[in-house]
Amino acid sequence: MNSNITSRIIGTGKYKAPGVLTNHDLEKMVDTNDQWIRERTGIIERRIAPSDILTSDMATVALKEALEMAGKSPNDLDMIICGTVTPDVPLPATAAFVQKKIGASNMCPSFDISAACAGFIFGLSIADNFIKTGKAKTVAVIGVEMLTRFMNFEDRNTCVLFGDGAGATVLTADTTGKGILSTHTYTDGSLTGLLEIPGGGSKYPPSAQTIANKLHYITMEGRETFKVAVKNLSEAAETALSFNGYTSDDVGVVAAHQANMRILTSVSNRVKIPMEKFAITIDRYGNTSSASIPISLDEAVRGGRVNDDDLILMIALGGGISWGSALVKW
Ligand code: ACO
Repeated sequence: MNSNITSRIIGTGKYKAPGVLTNHDLEKMVDTNDQWIRERTGIIERRIAPSDILTSDMATVALKEALEMAGKSPNDLDMIICGTVTPDVPLPATAAFVQKKIGASNMCPSFDISAACAGFIFGLSIADNFIKTGKAKTVAVIGVEMLTRFMNFEDRNTCVLFGDGAGATVLTADTTGKGILSTHTYTDGSLTGLLEIPGGGSKYPPSAQTIANKLHYITMEGRETFKVAVKNLSEAAETALSFNGYTSDDVGVVAAHQANMRILTSVSNRVKIPMEKFAITIDRYGNTSSASIPISLDEAVRGGRVNDDDLILMIALGGGISWGSALVKW
């Protein structure tokens, strides 16, 4: 193993779904209002994919953009990793469909990660380890979610929060000292009940009864998840920085999971990184789970917010409860 190898992000891309669902639209569907949603979450609108588009289609668009920026072709990929909890089908993996749709004919291993909103960070961590150990040179890591198809649009506790979208990155082996400096990933399996889609698996296989009981929709204990998120995301940020000998002053951009603006401001206060450094997309995309970090990163990169040598802090938490961080030197 060459210890000088790092995994450098050389391309980013995204799929921005064309449909827009505003808070005012939701006022007509459930007992809610624009002011509550803005004040409690920071969301103004969320994106919805057309009905003929699949999760793998969104991922493929995002990956195509990322490959173009990277100057790589599909067959350069040694691995395709998709973070998603809203796959095309339970079997096979969404990443396998992406491999075909992007035109990678090189049989590269392609698989999904189920870590909810932390799926992209978990994917980065796996890609980084394959690259650092020389087992892969160029890897695609995608975060993609079609959450609005798993949403109970009669439940105001959840339906105002989520949106559809995809973000992708292309990583390659590098020896200049730039790239992923560290990843840290965690799961607390005692908290599985906080966020779940109960039906459709071996516990409640699909049946007329599970549909009648609405078990195929996302459920969340929002208040408890909020507390866990602020604590764990802050600790993850602090660990990422101290592990690498940095302080909060050194951070250039924070690409954090976009679940709730109040979570982000609480983390900002705790870890003492000003909100101006956070790449914010929740206002326009809603919570896109595993897609939110790569979408925010892509917007920051294409918007000219990320400069050479900038330190980028990524933090995410989601169902599992799973969470983690990545610290990247751009
Ligand atoms: N409109 C109006 N009122 C509402 C709405 C709504 N859309 N939703 C809930 N309310 C009401 C509730 O019924 C409750 O009323 P009550 O006091 O009469 O019972 C009141 O508002 C407060 O409800 P809370 O749940 O305490 O509201 P809170 O301020 O906690 O906000 C939210 C809810 C936005 C869900 C917040 O808790 C949150 O963001 N939690 C964390 C989400 C998160 O981080 N998820 C992880 C990633 S997602 C993933 O992994 C897929």
